[in-house]
Amino acid sequence: MKAIQFDRLGGPEVMELREIPVPELRSGTVLVRNRVIAINYGDTFFIRGTYLVKPKFPDTPGMEAAGEIAAVAPDVTHLRAGMRVAYIGMGAYAEYTLIRASRVMPIPDEMDYEQAASFPIAVLTAWHMLHSCHETKPGQTVIVHSAAGGVGIAAVQIAKAADARVLGTVSSEEKFEMVRKFGADWVVNYETHDFAEEAMKVTGGRGADLILDAVGKPTFEKGLGCLAPLGHLILYGRAGGAPDPINPLALFGKSIKVSGFAVTMMYALTDHHRRALEDVFRLEREGKLTVPIGGRFPLAEAVNAHRYLESRRSTGKLLLIP
Ligand SMILES: NC(=O)c1ccc[n+]([C@@H]2O[C@H](COP(=O)([O-])OP(=O)(O)OC[C@H]3O[C@@H](n4cnc5c(N)ncnc54)[C@H](OP(=O)(O)O)[C@@H]3O)[C@@H](O)[C@H]2O)c1
Repeated sequence: MKAIQFDRLGGPEVMELREIPVPELRSGTVLVRNRVIAINYGDTFFIRGTYLVKPKFPDTPGMEAAGEIAAVAPDVTHLRAGMRVAYIGMGAYAEYTLIRASRVMPIPDEMDYEQAASFPIAVLTAWHMLHSCHETKPGQTVIVHSAAGGVGIAAVQIAKAADARVLGTVSSEEKFEMVRKFGADWVVNYETHDFAEEAMKVTGGRGADLILDAVGKPTFEKGLGCLAPLGHLILYGRAGGAPDPINPLALFGKSIKVSGFAVTMMYALTDHHRRALEDVFRLEREGKLTVPIGGRFPLAEAVNAHRYLESRRSTGKLLLIP
């Protein structure tokens, strides 16, 4: 089968297309024939060796995809060959991927493979932050940083579906229209404008109830400064570098809180996971949530797709087609 592999750490250039054997079934796994593979910013960390999971060379990047189950280990009884599924799991940049059965999610008949490949990480990350880590309520103000990106644009829609008010930040004017189209009440270019000042202005000096921050160093401290009393900042990434350590005493004044988030651990929390899946499928069915596809690349062009993602010009989800 065709697969992307790399055997040294580095930028997009370390990846290459190779012909390798189809993985063999092991106990507790299924083999998925990938139809659409979604790219995540975390993939750029993985090939550099700075992601939570470290590569074992030669390794294959990729963490989520959708397709059909091609084969099922005898001890897996709730899945069968031919089922349409999405999954979260390592080694997705390939024609076939071996996945632990617990990480595989059957998808609704009406969901196409592009939308299916885009939800296990980006959409569930957005949903859990808004509804598992925080209780997003009507009228609350939510700041979504890098709002035009994969997680960001899902978060804008899920927050709007909860009747929150959303301020999205982006780094260029070209992304404004899109973030507005998906429902943001306000959009700020955080490269040229002070998003914290803007947040204070639009909330009449009260500040934001929730900030979803995967940018890190450039936005974290400023975010703490524009939280409302009892406000909550969730740090879930560091595209702009790790933030400086905070002094916990700085949280006292407005009774604010900071928390972290990793979507991978949510799969073990079965009640949260089930609730998230049901709600995400409902929102998609009701037309309240669609992941815009910002680019489709053949699998062989993974290098170009990563370069595009890292350029900060991409919007929505970028996909690889095997
Ligand atoms: N903790 C978790 O479980 C989890 C799960 C999924 C994703 N994440 C994190 O969430 C973030 C978004 O992931 P994604 O896959 O949806 O990617 P993405 O948002 O589609 O792309 C990354 C975006 O980050 C913004 N950015 C800000 N500073 C940047 C910098 N210095 N260099 C490059 N980009 C920068 C860019 O948007 P602007 O130029 O408009 O700012 C860029 O488009 C990433 O940081 C990722 O690691 C975390």
